[in-house]
Amino acid sequence: MKNLKTILVFALPMLVGSLIMASCASSKVAMKSGAQLWGENCVRCHSTPSPSAYNNTDWETIGLHMRVRANLTAEETQKVVEFLQSAN
Ligand code: HEC
Repeated sequence: MKNLKTILVFALPMLVGSLIMASCASSKVAMKSGAQLWGENCVRCHSTPSPSAYNNTDWETIGLHMRVRANLTAEETQKVVEFLQSAN
């Protein structure tokens, strides 16, 4: 029983702590705007394409195409695409 208590005393705060940290990490991503994600990710391989360079339909397709390349989540891709479409 003593062992179990010791485990709980240490494991519980660690579990709670890591949950808090995980939620912080995801809210950090959630807080990034489409423009920010665009500026940070799309330049890794080529110059950032201007939002006015393509029409809204093209941006949907390019979003899917570049999502794979840039390794973005669905949420991040949607934000980038919405940002790029907002200029048209
Ligand atoms: C890992 C590298 C990489 C990243 C990151 C990347 N791209 Fe690309 N991109 C490419 C390559 C390579 C091409 C050339 C076409 C191909 O072979 O896919 C390309 C082509 C394009 C094109 C030309 C049209 C097309 O679909 O081929 C556009 C527009 C574009 N990228 C936009 C973006 C945007 C917006 C982002 C950010 C979300 C992005 N790219 C992130 C590698 C990347």
